[in-house]
Amino acid sequence: MKLPEPRLAGGMPLAQALRERRSIRAYATTPLALADISQLLWSAAGVTSPEGFRTTPSAGATFPLETYLIAGAVDGLAAGVYRYDPATHGLGQTAAGDIRADLAAACMNQACVATCTAAILFGAVFERTTAKYGDMGRDFVLLEAGHAAQNVSLQAVALGLGAVAIGALDEQRLQSLAAMGDNEKPIYMMVFGKPNA
Ligand SMILES: Cc1cc2nc3c(=O)[nH]c(=O)nc-3n(C[C@H](O)[C@H](O)[C@H](O)COP(=O)(O)O)c2cc1C
Repeated sequence: MKLPEPRLAGGMPLAQALRERRSIRAYATTPLALADISQLLWSAAGVTSPEGFRTTPSAGATFPLETYLIAGAVDGLAAGVYRYDPATHGLGQTAAGDIRADLAAACMNQACVATCTAAILFGAVFERTTAKYGDMGRDFVLLEAGHAAQNVSLQAVALGLGAVAIGALDEQRLQSLAAMGDNEKPIYMMVFGKPNA
């Protein structure tokens, strides 16, 4: 399915988003708007040039990251796991149902993972970058995930959402939960929700 068009201008000034960014781990149960999900995914991997370059830089333009949305409570979107397609700014479902409890279990039972309304999970196909850069490519992929997560983190602030980065994750369990390919490893995740009033 095609996502609503992202907003390409305006919003909170960057310095304010930087000043206000903080890890927020307690969320209201209020569903997220599909427009906010669209904006968050665009900030992670949206295409911003005719050549297909993206909001996030990529070592040698090898684009090793795959971006997944885990929808728990999102207005207008069934709970499930979706792969983001940067070229079409669309989503393809990879798993159905609300997996937040299983997701939390795969992340050391962190409460913020169980209670988030949505999450963005970054999977890495390391070979795309190591084919060009050898062993150094592995580091490049992880650095790239940091860029993507920071984009998402600042975009979340600008949308008035709470968010936190999750690095403590069980690769094998997440790989199967998101129905990732064998050559793809989950490496980093951001979880979100409206902040608890
Ligand atoms: C690579 C990385 C992994 C992290 N993993 C987790 C995590 O698994 N759970 C969590 O609650 N916070 C996690 N955090 C968030 C840090 O705990 C948080 O950034 C730190 O306490 C500083 O607080 P601040 O983000 O509000 O400035 C992670 C941060 C980074 C950079």
